Amino acid sequence: MSARHYVHGYTQRENIRLMDQSQTLAGLLHHGTKYRAGNKVLEVGCGVGAQTRILAKNSPRAHFVSMDVSESSVRKARRLVRRENIHNVHFQIADIFRLPFPDETFDHLFVCFVLEHLAEPVQALRALNRVLKKGGTLTVIEGDHGSCYFYPETGEARKAWQSLIVAQARLGGNSLIGRRLFPLLTQAGFRKVQVSPKFVYVDSSRPALVDGFIKRTIIAMVKGVKKRALAMELMDKKSWSKGVRDLYRTAQANGTFCYAFFKGFAIK
Ligand SMILES: C[S@@+](CC[C@H](N)C(=O)[O-])C[C@H]1O[C@@H](n2cnc3c(N)ncnc32)[C@H](O)[C@@H]1O
Repeated sequence: MSARHYVHGYTQRENIRLMDQSQTLAGLLHHGTKYRAGNKVLEVGCGVGAQTRILAKNSPRAHFVSMDVSESSVRKARRLVRRENIHNVHFQIADIFRLPFPDETFDHLFVCFVLEHLAEPVQALRALNRVLKKGGTLTVIEGDHGSCYFYPETGEARKAWQSLIVAQARLGGNSLIGRRLFPLLTQAGFRKVQVSPKFVYVDSSRPALVDGFIKRTIIAMVKGVKKRALAMELMDKKSWSKGVRDLYRTAQANGTFCYAFFKGFAIK
């Protein structure tokens, strides 16, 4: 995926955001995801390794192949796991639509925040299905930007958030994909599909989430799309700046913020 077509881009700021996001949400999103000794797990779209380190530490005796289409991200992910003394991960540069693995290679697949960026998520899931063993499992985690509401809310803050949704859609992605996980997994031929919502609610009594979620995950993501939103003329510069300032008010003493992720589990 070229940086031009990827809504978040491959900048250093975005790499930091992915690390902050994964750390802040580790308990919520990885709860219940553990793989047995000797299992072969494919992590799809591993990016800079933010989820890789959590996966590998939670299942230290499973073997992970973590792949991404971005060479620079894979290089960073490799450095990260080396630094953290993790030895059960092998990295590979690969495209989901041209997976360099024989049929039925893996016991499990793990996909986090990837389908939302693809114009053809069902085809991607079918391609993944091919490399999964019969009886193997798939875990998919996606957000849904339509699930987001916050207080205080101003027109500009809402519009800045909406710009992210529109910009991603214009690049062929779908940030409202969480609600579609069930039909997508079913259409791609998976069995026993189960999807559970994972709600994040933040107010100032939860300072770690105020910082890690509202500021470093959500607002950082909105700020990352500024150039595109302005170039697409979704907002003018002045109302954009006000929108971002207003979003920061949700992180103040009387602010609140809600968002839902969706975690899907299915069997081949
Ligand atoms: C939002 S990042 C998520 C990274 C990681 N899963 C995480 O949660 O931190 C999406 C990743 O999907 C990768 N990606 C997008 N299209 C891909 C494709 N066709 N094949 C492999 N990776 C892809 C991007 O390069 C990017 O690293």
